[in-house]
Amino acid sequence: MKVTIVGAGAVGASCAEYIAIKNFASEVVLLDIKEGYAEGKAMDLMQCASLNAFDTKIKGTTNDYSKTDNSNICVITSGIPRKPGMTREELIGINAGIVKTVSKNLVKFSPETILIVVSNPMDTMTYLTHKVTGLPKNRIIGMGGALDSARFKYRLAEAIDAPISDVDGMVIGGHSDSGMVPLISHATRNSIKISEFISKERLEQVKQDTKVGGATLTKLLGTSAWYAPGAAVSGLVQAIACNQKKVFPCSVLLEGEYGLNNLCIGVPVMLGSNGIEKIIDIKLTEADKAHLKSSADGVKKTNGLLKI
Ligand code: LAC
Repeated sequence: MKVTIVGAGAVGASCAEYIAIKNFASEVVLLDIKEGYAEGKAMDLMQCASLNAFDTKIKGTTNDYSKTDNSNICVITSGIPRKPGMTREELIGINAGIVKTVSKNLVKFSPETILIVVSNPMDTMTYLTHKVTGLPKNRIIGMGGALDSARFKYRLAEAIDAPISDVDGMVIGGHSDSGMVPLISHATRNSIKISEFISKERLEQVKQDTKVGGATLTKLLGTSAWYAPGAAVSGLVQAIACNQKKVFPCSVLLEGEYGLNNLCIGVPVMLGSNGIEKIIDIKLTEADKAHLKSSADGVKKTNGLLKI
């Protein structure tokens, strides 16, 4: 199993680290345009191998896509991250050009690859990747929902003072502050509805905190987060690499599911060796349905800024 990660910045390096630590891939290639940077990150990570007991070989390259040939899975993290006060949508001008070039180069050397898009604005970059590569829809996956759901579970566990492993919940919709739809009515603590443990008002606060999860960190760190994004990507990569058939919310091209068409947005999907094995069309409350519809309108508006 060969995995390529484009972008050796904080998110890309964190993806490589978590993938290596989970020890299921034979090879991870890190690629970056900055001279020597990916090679340095790869070497530093490889010096953890004996300490952290992994056998994955991590290699770095400065923009040589031939080194990524025949990758089973490629992760695109390249582009600029947001600064405090910025929305993910404001990154479109620079990141669209980068994602276009990167995805074309990846598919040239790995025509059978599955692509995972992390660059922001993520739903629009996933849609752009469809347009420029023409890969079948099961092989293009946007990472956002897995991360947003992890942040939702963190906030839920904090609010009810429970261990995180007791809590389950999912965030669908666009990966943006206004677009995220935390599914409160589906959230549970060990199969018991979360509303049994917490007031409506506190749940509303959890919902708001989840939606600005990335922005809160950007304000604290001065740039966007990397540990949880990296861990979320590694979960998707492992589900595909190990054919786990796990369910995650991911940004995928919709063709009628949830009454939506011609956009990529976060909905629950099953991931296995074919990438997206299935889109799961769950029943939503009227309020969540309306929120998803307005989230989709927002994503379409951003898609409209693309010059494809
Ligand atoms: C975040 C970035 C990865 O939400 O979009 O942290």
